[in-house]
Amino acid sequence: MTVTPRSTPLGIWLIGARGAISTCLAYGVYGLRRGLHEATGVVTSGEPFSQLPLVTEDDLVFGGHEISTRDLSASVAELVSAGVLPAELVQACAEEGDLFAAATRPGMLDATEVGGQDLDPRSAELGALLPREQIKHVIADWDSFEAEHNLDGMVVVDLSSTEVRQESRDAWESLAAFEEELDGGRPQPASLLYAYAALSSGRPLVNFTPNISASAPALMELAEKNNVVHAGRDGKTGETLLKTALAPMFTHRALKVHAWQGYNMLGNRDGAVLADSAHRATKIENKDRALRELLGGGDELHTGVGIDYVPSLGDWKTAMDLIHFEGFLGARMTLQMTWTGSDSALAAPLVLDLVRLVDFAQRAGEGGALRAAACFFKAPVAGGTHDFHRQHEELVRWAKGYLG
Ligand SMILES: NC(=O)c1ccc[n+]([C@@H]2O[C@H](COP(=O)([O-])OP(=O)(O)OC[C@H]3O[C@@H](n4cnc5c(N)ncnc54)[C@H](O)[C@@H]3O)[C@@H](O)[C@H]2O)c1
Repeated sequence: MTVTPRSTPLGIWLIGARGAISTCLAYGVYGLRRGLHEATGVVTSGEPFSQLPLVTEDDLVFGGHEISTRDLSASVAELVSAGVLPAELVQACAEEGDLFAAATRPGMLDATEVGGQDLDPRSAELGALLPREQIKHVIADWDSFEAEHNLDGMVVVDLSSTEVRQESRDAWESLAAFEEELDGGRPQPASLLYAYAALSSGRPLVNFTPNISASAPALMELAEKNNVVHAGRDGKTGETLLKTALAPMFTHRALKVHAWQGYNMLGNRDGAVLADSAHRATKIENKDRALRELLGGGDELHTGVGIDYVPSLGDWKTAMDLIHFEGFLGARMTLQMTWTGSDSALAAPLVLDLVRLVDFAQRAGEGGALRAAACFFKAPVAGGTHDFHRQHEELVRWAKGYLG
């Protein structure tokens, strides 16, 4: 099938617009546009993806929702002092940054949250509206953004904070039951409402967070029904990427893994949110599942993930893993590794990839969960293997399918 290149700009709507990843992404794209740095870490800049008519950085317009009153310049300053965003890049792209700041609107506070000291009071008000009114409000913001910038559509990206883990509800299992609950006015996680707004208004969605968003069966059904592409859940950027690349090696060599214990320390806002056990539970679930599936091992296998907030580390996350395994004749061995990465610099290029891929898939007539994007996520919405190499091969196969 031939997909024609885009002739009009595409909007990227970032939920959590003044967060670390959003800030890093927007300035990273502005820098690419001005030729200030290379596209290192952008998977779609390489073969075979570069042969597809994907949207280019020149055609992207940023807007977003945010619940904090923190200025974009404050988020920028954090990343500059962490050594992630070069100060010269920020200076050179000041004009674009101002446009992004002007296109950011108050988001809706999740019903289970009280918000931090810098909570935008308008977000608290929006969070207290009935779900149907919240959805209407969000869609109205998107409609006016598209009209104002003459956009031919947009991709919505959830980059908001990790929500409190909630028990699954029966009403999330089917679209009819979910819509009935919406009509009844029962409060819903903000990520579900943003996802419903996107998919019901025909806008492709990327959920980079561990939040429920479009992974609820009701929302999966909505995406299928409306033929809207979505991809998620929980970006695979650091420790889990390493785990899912390395675990298959033990399996292929018939080595028996007894224990895989990981420990993460991070100092950014995401880390501060994850310091709370109710938020952390959402994250740990995703981090642990992949390993268990790849290694099998049942009850004999011990896996564990710890996450601690260490403020002075800022955007630099350190993950330590200890793998205890057994070889021939019962010989017991260990592999210990330490990974230190900039959370935002690892995540931002993948978000750009995902926006380009879901936009392309939508234009190609696909709908529902984008299976081929599984390699980008800790808990892929469409399921499938967690083996990073096989996931990447699937993505390449998918792209080549369009190249004939
Ligand atoms: N950095 C990574 O490598 C990585 C990997 C996987 C997943 N994630 C996830 O991506 C998300 C963003 O990470 P980050 O480091 O940019 O976090 P961050 O804390 O810097 O940014 C999140 C932003 O979302 C805003 N926000 C919270 N609730 C909102 C709502 N309901 N509506 C609109 N805005 C809201 C916050 O005020 C904040 O500015 C987190 O959920 C994180 O767990 C990050």
